[in-house]
Amino acid sequence: MLDFDFYSPTEFVFGKGRESECGRLVKKHGGSRVLIHYGGGSAVKSGLIDRVKASLTDSGLTFFELGGVKPNPRDTLVYKGIELAKSEGVDFILAVGGGSVIDSSKAIAVGALYDGDFWDHYCGKAQIQKALPVGTVLTIAAAGSEGSGNSVITKEEGMLKRGAGSDLIRPKFSVLDPELTQTLPAYQTACGATDIMAHVFERYFTNTTEVEITDRLCEAVLMTMVKETPRVIKDPNNYHARANIMWAGMVAHNNIVGVGRQQDWNSHGLEHELSGLYDVAHGAGLAVIMPAWMEYVHSHDVMRFCQMATRVFGCKMNFADPEATALEGIKAFRTFLHNIGMPINFTELGAKEEDIPKLIEKLGVGDGKRGGFVELDKAAVEAIYKIAAKATL
Ligand code: NZQ
Ligand code: ZN
Repeated sequence: MLDFDFYSPTEFVFGKGRESECGRLVKKHGGSRVLIHYGGGSAVKSGLIDRVKASLTDSGLTFFELGGVKPNPRDTLVYKGIELAKSEGVDFILAVGGGSVIDSSKAIAVGALYDGDFWDHYCGKAQIQKALPVGTVLTIAAAGSEGSGNSVITKEEGMLKRGAGSDLIRPKFSVLDPELTQTLPAYQTACGATDIMAHVFERYFTNTTEVEITDRLCEAVLMTMVKETPRVIKDPNNYHARANIMWAGMVAHNNIVGVGRQQDWNSHGLEHELSGLYDVAHGAGLAVIMPAWMEYVHSHDVMRFCQMATRVFGCKMNFADPEATALEGIKAFRTFLHNIGMPINFTELGAKEEDIPKLIEKLGVGDGKRGGFVELDKAAVEAIYKIAAKATL
């Protein structure tokens, strides 16, 4: 196991109706002039925004509103939010929605206290030095942004999707009410489940040895997702299955399952170019990329893939031919994704094989290599995109 620091200061408030405590929580974490940031309408339609506003009013807080965050959140709305936050003297951002809303809120939080262009932090020009406090009311279990120190924004010009990270943008609190996720369509539920599993796999496939505790934590989250996802697809109102998935989504990405080990993240890198170029859901892009990446890299450590196959997907170990078990595990993952309604190739995703050179160029591999479990050069990236383009069950 490698040395590590683990800092996860977010207060999690979990359970039915807990969004009514927003006012108390904002006050506790120092807010008085609040920007409520939300998405394209689901939180308004469900009455959640009204309940949040009532809670802030009851606590005597002043608030402003900015809705309209799109999935794959855009820089253009972030600029509007920064302007509003500066002009109104906002001191707290309250994100009500999914990963896109939370990431947009984190970007506003950074930009509101920065003299230059907030994008500097997403294109590698500047490190985050300060940010307004952010709180969240989560409505979809997926990105894990409710507990992570990351934010991913898409620059509309050129549809460039890039991330920024710092402990300074970890939410001060996150309200996790599983009931709020019961209005999710099956497709979005499945996209979220895929992303949660991908966050674990990015950490699970490692060259670091002697990491039993995090291996076992990863497997616990993955097995939970394998069990609970089909249950909520079948019965969207299954509160306890939703609750397990909601907590799994947080655990998968606040890094508790990833400390002390090298991580990969190449599937996310390759996927961000897909959701950037085609504006598809991040989870759907991962369903296409991640099994393809697994197929390409499995020979690097066949026994680790056998471990996934046997422990997570219940495959029988073939001691005479371990590679067969490894490949069976990858197939089981892809079949699982298909069964929950995810695309498994470019056609099903709405991507085009002829765009692969464009995807590679946007990814910016150049003549170098992308680090991780297996270092990928341009040829490797191309091979993975090609496997993804044509994958079948
Ligand atoms: O905008 P509304 O109307 O709310 O609709 C949303 C959106 O269309 C809908 N939705 C959310 N909650 C709902 C609901 N519909 C009905 N009932 C509800 N309760 O779901 C759609 C997707 O929402 P979005 O926020 O985009 O989903 P998600 O949480 O998957 O976030 C995706 C974004 O997060 C980034 C992704 O790249 C993507 O941009 N990620 C952020 C990470 C982070 N900050 O740590 C890590 C991830 O790897 C990921 O990259
Ligand atoms: Zn993700």
